[in-house]
Amino acid sequence: MATIRLGDVAPDFTADSSMGMINLYDYLGDGWGILFSHPADFTPVCTTELGTAAKFKAEFDKRNVKMLALSVDGVASHGEWIKDINETQHTTVNFPIIADDDKKVSTLYDMIHPNANDSLTVRSVYIIAPDKTVKLIITYPASTGRNFHELLRVIDSLQLTAYHKVATPANWENGDRVVVSPSINTEDANKIFTKGVEEIKPYLRMTPQPNI
Ligand code: BEZ
Repeated sequence: MATIRLGDVAPDFTADSSMGMINLYDYLGDGWGILFSHPADFTPVCTTELGTAAKFKAEFDKRNVKMLALSVDGVASHGEWIKDINETQHTTVNFPIIADDDKKVSTLYDMIHPNANDSLTVRSVYIIAPDKTVKLIITYPASTGRNFHELLRVIDSLQLTAYHKVATPANWENGDRVVVSPSINTEDANKIFTKGVEEIKPYLRMTPQPNI
């Protein structure tokens, strides 16, 4: 297991899942991906997370992000658990859950933190860009369910900053003003950002979001 850091190439793998064998790179194609781990099947917080994730799938699709969950149990267990998720969360799980009973993928992605729990995964999130580099890593403890609005917000930021010379400020939401990248001088910024640039300080320049 090697530590994965931002900018690293996401390790490829082939693994069984609730929807059959999956090769990560084939599954992602030339789109974005979100790989998120769950401590174990038939656990309460994970049940709510996967139900919520299923309800958010259209939003991930809109952003060309393929969803891939992981839990350290086998395919048969996933199948039974998915029935419970669908029933209790009033949805249909509509993306694959990797069956990681041999802990191959969770070890590859450093999702088991032994001082937290030596057998279950923590709640890891990896967002992978079309060039297969890792753009975001988040780690939550098992006891805290993730906020899927925040995951969409950060994907919006990552996609915006991947294609425009901007960064997003604190609490930014899609549609808010953005920060001009420090690598651009104000003269060039005024040419690039035709909606206008406000120079609050030479290092703090704001502009309307360029892609709307
Ligand atoms: C849960 O998903 O509910 C959970 C799993 C492991 C520890 C605590 C909560």
